[in-house]
Amino acid sequence: MKKKLLTLLMGTALVMGLAACGGGNNDKGTDQGTNKGTDTATSEEGAKIFDQKCSGCHGGDLTGGMGPNLTKVGSKYSKDDILNIIKNGKGQMPANVVTGDDANKVADWLAAKK
Ligand code: HEC
Repeated sequence: MKKKLLTLLMGTALVMGLAACGGGNNDKGTDQGTNKGTDTATSEEGAKIFDQKCSGCHGGDLTGGMGPNLTKVGSKYSKDDILNIIKNGKGQMPANVVTGDDANKVADWLAAKK
């Protein structure tokens, strides 16, 4: 049976912050003494988005359910591959479960699962 994508919130609140676009600058190795792990926010958000949008099919611990196990998905697909799957869907998986920045964060987070 076909169910409508549940409430795709327009994400306005989430996007407000406009995080500096991901993947732009590599660190230049200048020793500025600021050693904060700037990734944490992104990966936590990735996990959260997954939990909200994907875990229903892939399991809260990524081990799968209706959808396949994703615990090692990063060794099978690159971030771009995962983004494509999110955008286009795959088999029973609907396209655009998440979009834009959210898709980016989830893909980033999943690509690190190896
Ligand atoms: C409605 C259930 C459903 C939802 C929601 C869903 N998926 Fe899927 N997903 C599937 C199914 C089913 C497949 C297997 C498709 C196939 O290969 O035929 C799949 C496949 C995948 C694959 C490829 C896995 C592989 O090994 O080939 C990735 C990556 C993936 N999903 C990521 C996500 C992400 C990220 C989200 C949330 C944004 C998500 N999925 C939400 C059902 C779902």
